[in-house]
Amino acid sequence: MNIFNTAIVKMIPIIPRGIVRKFANPYIAGDKISDAVEKAKKLNAIGIMGTMDVLGEHNTLKEQAVKSTDECIEVLDAINKYKLDSNLSLKLTQLGLQMDFDFCKENLFRILDAARKYNTFVRIDMEDSACTDDTLRLYELSREYYSNCGIVVQAYLKRTYADVEKLVKQKSNFRLCKGIYVEPEEIAYKKKEEINENFLRILRLMLESKSYTGIATHDDALVEGSYKILEEFKLKKEEYEFQMLLGVREKLRNKIHENGHRMRIYIPYGEQWYNYCIRRFKENPKMATYVLKSILTGN
Ligand code: FDA
Repeated sequence: MNIFNTAIVKMIPIIPRGIVRKFANPYIAGDKISDAVEKAKKLNAIGIMGTMDVLGEHNTLKEQAVKSTDECIEVLDAINKYKLDSNLSLKLTQLGLQMDFDFCKENLFRILDAARKYNTFVRIDMEDSACTDDTLRLYELSREYYSNCGIVVQAYLKRTYADVEKLVKQKSNFRLCKGIYVEPEEIAYKKKEEINENFLRILRLMLESKSYTGIATHDDALVEGSYKILEEFKLKKEEYEFQMLLGVREKLRNKIHENGHRMRIYIPYGEQWYNYCIRRFKENPKMATYVLKSILTGN
């Protein structure tokens, strides 16, 4: 990120929420569950799957975590009611991971029970590195009782290849992404080439072991690199999928889908849209420039 963009990103906390919201709109389905349902229906109509996500993270009160758990179950109810081709993504810090591991486990298992009843799948997102050990521990515990859950791993973390070597032995279901949090260089690759190389190395390990993998990227180089590995292992379309975020690189999304690959879109919604969008802005410096232009011109 150049100095100009870094300066704008630093200004984001003082930008009026109304302006941030205007730029957030393409990335979020809306405030309400009905908004996410509509988005999923539209994507399903063109043959694209969804993974719905109630925005929120780092809950610090047990009541909030219970509320988030109930909201996740509402999403599963809606998926079943409207027969959506969608599953659920969630963050364990929403369910109280940082407060009490066992309490978080109870909440997660309540969601996994509901998902099992509906024959639906739950994806556990990966958060910052302070949560990695506990997230993997809870995922591994869940897999002892539930087959309908999967985990996310981040290619920028130096530990991930070794984690995946262990996880493939339990026939895990993965989403592989680069990783979005700012991590120290002792534990994370920083250069794009290193992250991409690790991404493809890990993907090869997952696919070689026949683990179902969601290839989550908007990076042309990684899409091309993934195609080569898929071709090499002669995988069937049902053995993997591509995943992208709502509102990001829709032309690439359509191209991958038209090439005959399964595509799933991450559909976030909810009142806690602000933190999610700030992360998206920090990730994409161009957005920060647009925000500044809007402030200066009033458009
Ligand atoms: P890269 O960042 O190089 O982007 C490639 C190109 O895509 C950019 O040049 C730009 O054109 C476009 N682009 C990417 N992001 C954009 C954005 N926000 N706005 C506009 N354009 C954008 N991370 C994590 O740590 N834990 C998780 O659980 C998840 N979950 C997750 C689910 C799904 C379905 C996806 C697609 C991604 C995640 N991520 C995530 C985020 C992921 O780690 C990563 O930060 C982003 O996907 C961006 O990385 P790319 O591979 O797209 O490459």
